[in-house]
Amino acid sequence: PPADRDAALKAIAERVRACVQCPLHKTRTQTVPGQGSASPDIAFVGEAPGADEDRQGLAFVGRAGQLLTKMIKAMGYTREEVFIGNIIKCRPPDNRVPSPEEMAVCFPYLREQLAILRPKVIVSLGATAFQGLLPNFPFKTMSQVRGQWQSYEGIPVMPTFHPAYLLRQESKKKDAWQDLQAVLKRLGKPVPPVQNKS
Ligand code: URA
Repeated sequence: PPADRDAALKAIAERVRACVQCPLHKTRTQTVPGQGSASPDIAFVGEAPGADEDRQGLAFVGRAGQLLTKMIKAMGYTREEVFIGNIIKCRPPDNRVPSPEEMAVCFPYLREQLAILRPKVIVSLGATAFQGLLPNFPFKTMSQVRGQWQSYEGIPVMPTFHPAYLLRQESKKKDAWQDLQAVLKRLGKPVPPVQNKS
């Protein structure tokens, strides 16, 4: 039942809040467990909190988050209807890429979250999210893996570009939109009429 899921997710967030398993706890302001629906069609998974997320304790609330919000809306969803989280729950100093050790100790939190959420689809945003979910995949570049369905614990995974990358490479937005349309198709949802996807 949804109430049980909410309670289970809260319990994980509390453990994350107290976590000191890697050095990132020393430099974080707040932990960022991820937030949204406890029974979502879609779970969006990013890399790690940035400065805005670290300050607010919420995933994807900075500039990349604003673009993610537009992507979610373009799909006909609201942020509250999906789950939004990250591979890593604490901000790496200077937004560096998380180390393999940090990813290894932090990933079990996301694994537990996904086991509770049981989303119909996972959208992985960027290389770190993809590699965190599928560490054994012979990953080369995002351009090679994006748009091709993968599977995590039986849940379909659609890899696409990270919104922060899309802010720098506007020309890739049409590829990302293709990937999100494939997700809608898989969910049996119509593609909403295009307003302004910029
Ligand atoms: N980038 C991410 O990967 N995650 C966030 O929460 C914010 C920016």
